Amino acid sequence: NMMQGVTEFGGGSTFPQTHEGGISVETLTGPRDRQPDRSFTLTAQAAKVPLTSGATVEAWTFNGQVPGPELRVREGELVEIKLVNNIPSVPVTIHWHGVDVPNAEDGVPGMTQNAVRTGQTHTYRFVADEVGTRWYHSHQLASEQVGRGLFGALVIEPRTVQRPVDEDIAVPFHIWDASSGARRAFGAADALERRQMEAGRRVRLRLINTSNKPATFTLTGTPYRVTALDGTDVNGPTEVNGYQLPLSAAGRYDLEFVMPSRPVRLAELGDVSHGLLLQPDGAGDVAPDTEGPVFDPTAYGSASDTPFNASSSFDRTFNLVLDDWLGFYNGKFALRQTVNGRVFPNAPVHMVREGDLVKMRFVNRGTENHPMHLHGHHMLVLSRNGQPVTGSPMVMDTLNVAPGEAWEVGFRADNPGLWMDHCHDFVHTQLGMVLHLAYE
Ligand code: C2O
Ligand code: CU
Repeated sequence: NMMQGVTEFGGGSTFPQTHEGGISVETLTGPRDRQPDRSFTLTAQAAKVPLTSGATVEAWTFNGQVPGPELRVREGELVEIKLVNNIPSVPVTIHWHGVDVPNAEDGVPGMTQNAVRTGQTHTYRFVADEVGTRWYHSHQLASEQVGRGLFGALVIEPRTVQRPVDEDIAVPFHIWDASSGARRAFGAADALERRQMEAGRRVRLRLINTSNKPATFTLTGTPYRVTALDGTDVNGPTEVNGYQLPLSAAGRYDLEFVMPSRPVRLAELGDVSHGLLLQPDGAGDVAPDTEGPVFDPTAYGSASDTPFNASSSFDRTFNLVLDDWLGFYNGKFALRQTVNGRVFPNAPVHMVREGDLVKMRFVNRGTENHPMHLHGHHMLVLSRNGQPVTGSPMVMDTLNVAPGEAWEVGFRADNPGLWMDHCHDFVHTQLGMVLHLAYE
């Protein structure tokens, strides 16, 4: 098996090893035979939450806060999370986005569990194997529930720290539907948030796009490195400066730099009304915004060996055409987002056998961005529009397929179960853009 022996990507995440001995209840659930190393309780509850501008959100929260508590665990730890649902008449679940958990821990209602009703609890268990910036969110009616606040950052720290930093800050970008209209924010900060940051500090920002649409960010005032994509380390990240950083819905960038003696600002391109301003002495000026080159992850960093690549022989190839569809559906004129002309629940089901090397080709013939998210597996990007990746290997859990684009990805079928693969624009999820991956 080509996977064995070569499991590390740049010292970051690992591909899980293939199971031997077939599918059993034990392979579908997290370990239940020992005490967890870390335990958390996340209580879903309604709350009126003020954003930093003073606007308030009628939020659905975990533990009364938005975003939910930042969970930090160490690689290899057995993590247990007890979900308690106290939101009246609203069932919820939690999905661990970017963690290849056993199938029954994946948090997909109607598929891997029943949604957790008001007053009920559900306990998730998994071993934290995927080092890096991950996140969690409800998977029940996600366009409403994630929009209203049922999400948070999940950071899996490596067992051995390779690049220590002094400040490690998770920054979940979100669009709040505040009483005063949609508010774009970093966490609950929908206004510019100033933070004291001494010059010389090594800083890592973990940027997470929890919104439904791609967004473009700038980090102004310092050269920096993009050290991880979707939580997986980039091989040989070079220093960039003044770049535009487009980030897929559900995607993540880790950005690292040494704090200069001038201020540094993380913001959305062209909009400094909200963002994070790091100031060495509390008084610095905001650096001017830039419109530099557009960051291209397919050509960033340096190439390195991967367990398989575009010239490997694949056991299965699936072609997936993404498109808008406008017409009569169940007797009503409706817009749908389709995969191969179909919508959930008639979504395509692709069968794999454990151990298969699988290729997927996504082509977007429609007019909207489709951030395609595969549950339970990580995708190695093979090509974009026929061009191979020339930089660091890209190991993604979510891939934005823009209108007119074609992407090829490969993955090893090494996590048995029934998995969702869907557009992470949750409005499109509800409009049907879902497919399934099923193990024979
Ligand atoms: Cu982050 Cu199926 O979702
Ligand atoms: Cu979509």
